[in-house]
Amino acid sequence: EKGGYEHFMIKEIHEQPKAIKDTLSPRLGVNNEIELDNIKLSKEDLEKINKVVIVACGTAYHAGLVGRYAIEKFAKIPVETDVASEFRYRDPFVDDKTLFIAVSQSGETADTLAALREAKGKGARVLAVTNVVGSRISREADDVFYTWAGPEIAVASTKAYTTQLVAMYLIALNMGIKKGTISKEKYNEILEELKTYQQKVEKLVETKEQIQELANRQFNNQNVFYIGRGIDDHVGKEGSLKLKEISYIHSEAIAAGELKHGTIALIEQGTLVIALATQEHLFDKMLSNIKEVKARGAYVIAVAKEGNEEIEEAADAVIYIPNTLDELTPILSVIPLQLLAYYIAVTRGCDVDKPKNLAKSVTVE
Ligand code: M6R
Repeated sequence: EKGGYEHFMIKEIHEQPKAIKDTLSPRLGVNNEIELDNIKLSKEDLEKINKVVIVACGTAYHAGLVGRYAIEKFAKIPVETDVASEFRYRDPFVDDKTLFIAVSQSGETADTLAALREAKGKGARVLAVTNVVGSRISREADDVFYTWAGPEIAVASTKAYTTQLVAMYLIALNMGIKKGTISKEKYNEILEELKTYQQKVEKLVETKEQIQELANRQFNNQNVFYIGRGIDDHVGKEGSLKLKEISYIHSEAIAAGELKHGTIALIEQGTLVIALATQEHLFDKMLSNIKEVKARGAYVIAVAKEGNEEIEEAADAVIYIPNTLDELTPILSVIPLQLLAYYIAVTRGCDVDKPKNLAKSVTVE
């Protein structure tokens, strides 16, 4: 059932090109018109919304962070993102002008479901982004966007995350084009690029040997730090969660600009830092941050876009993602981070698919 792979996790990492295609292509018409199943997001519906709230747990929450970026950027609607266990207890400000988006692979997560009920009770429209047809969250939502990732068995979520990202981009672009807050040219440019992602992700998964080699040398750290800015920080959070849950190495993701407000105190000789530097307008800032941690002895693995070879002067090792639009990098940059977590966990002899203390679906609070 693992199709020749050693673990479900690595099998599911390899299934991502197909999962992305299966989630994307049924929603795209010949002229790039987006068909979001029967989700009620007409121009009139959108006029009634003055804010979006995205709520989820764990990896799905990290997809929500990218969702916030995409909706604010393309649809110009203010977006709040929260973890479900916080949202449900903070008496959140939600009303009938709120679009509430619950993101959940399983569709059964207790806190996400409770948050959904809380928002619904306050009059919000509820859209679920989920991978499981007929799940509780899908049944209680007003509308559902299904990710077509196929069954995800490994506790560590991989293909669910990348398809949740596709969902977020489609929802954001769809809102933007209807509201007129994104130009037709930009809209087409992004969708044309997204169509190349099946191939680009395939190519990236093939970099696994380089990553395996890095993992063979970097598996013994006590602490790992992920740094990035903007959506790179969101992806860093996902990479860090992946690493800690399957390898049991303490890891932390931090917005690179926050380093000197505290965390840099923990960088010492040999500390592993994963630096994401895929964003053109933040590239120089990231170079400085890399130099700062290097000056304190860190070993830096950078993730950058092809064409930005300058980074090799600052970092100890570089993993390149194919050149792409800055807005879409998370779908690509997360792949090496998934692979790195996987190979480090394998090298440490961990039970990758079933890490201790964790369940695939958290149906109790
Ligand atoms: O099924 P859900 O997407 O609601 O699950 C949310 C989290 O429990 C889940 O993403 C968890 O963080 C994963 N183990 C991460 O790999």
